Amino acid sequence: MKICVLNLSGNVGKSTLAVHLLAAFAPGSKIISVESINASNVNDVEALDVEELSASRFKEIFREIMFNDEVIVDVGASNVAAFMTEMTRFKSAVGEFDLVLVPTVPADKQQRDTIATIDWLHKLGIDGKKVRVLFNQYATASLEPVELVYAQVAGYGATDGKGKAVFEPFAVVMLNEVYELAKSSKKTIMELAQDSTDWKAARGDAKRAGDLVAMERAMAAQMTHDLAATAHENLSQVHGMLFPAAAASAKARRA
Ligand SMILES: Nc1ncnc2c1ncn2[C@@H]1O[C@H](COP(=O)(O)OP(=O)(O)O)[C@@H](O)[C@H]1O
Ligand SMILES: [Mg+2]
Repeated sequence: MKICVLNLSGNVGKSTLAVHLLAAFAPGSKIISVESINASNVNDVEALDVEELSASRFKEIFREIMFNDEVIVDVGASNVAAFMTEMTRFKSAVGEFDLVLVPTVPADKQQRDTIATIDWLHKLGIDGKKVRVLFNQYATASLEPVELVYAQVAGYGATDGKGKAVFEPFAVVMLNEVYELAKSSKKTIMELAQDSTDWKAARGDAKRAGDLVAMERAMAAQMTHDLAATAHENLSQVHGMLFPAAAASAKARRA
C-alpha cells in the first residue's frame, strides 16, 4: 500500500495517524516525512523506518514512492504548499497512491482547510474513492453525533464534496491523551497496549521496598496502558474500516 496523509492544516493528526494508525499496523513500512529538516516528530518511535525529506527534494520523494511497495507519506504543514505545487508539476505522482487520508478535527479552521484539501485533490484528478476523510479527536464524552461535531465537513460530504472523497461510514478516531503520553515512550500505541508488564505486581514490589519513585512509575504506567488499550481498540476498528481486505485476512489467520 502507498498512502499519503495530507491536509492543508497542521494539527489535524497527520503525523500521529501516520505512525499509530498506519505504520503500526503495517510492519516494515517506510515513512516519508515531508518536513523541513528536523521539524518532524514522527521519527521518535524506535521501531519505525522514517526518512525526512523536504518538499524541495520532490524528485527523491517521488522516487521513494515509486520504489517502495509499502510507503506512508506524511506531509507536514510547513511543506504542504510546496508539496502540492510539486504534485501539480509531476502529474502522475498522485496516481501512485492507493489511498490519500485526510484527517480532520472539530476546529472551524481545520474543517475549512479539510474541504479545501479535498477540492484541491479533486482538481488534481484523483479518484474520489481513494480519498478518505478521517474524523480525528472526537471527544468520547461528546453527546453530539459526528455529523454535528464536524458539521462543515459532513455537510460538504453530503453536497459539494459528494464523490470527491469517501466520508461514510464515518471513520472516527477518539480524542485520547495517550497520543501525547506515547511521545516520550518512543513506542506505538499498539506496543503500549500489548505490553504485558504486571504493573500491579510491580507496584506491590515497589511498595514493599519503600521505593516511592518506582511506585509512581508503576501507577502511571498502569494508567497509560489502560488508555493505550482503549485507543488501540479504536484504531483497530478504524483500520479495519479503511482496509477491509487486511482485516479479513488477519481474522482468517487468527481463526
Ligand atoms: N486522537 C487524538 N487525541 C488526542 N490528541 C491527539 C489525537 N490526534 C492527535 N493528537 C495530538 O494533536 C497534536 C497534533 O497532532 P499531529 O499528529 O502532530 O498533527 P499534524 O501532523 O497534522 O500537524 C499532537 O500533539 C498529537 O499528540
Ligand atoms: Mg505532522
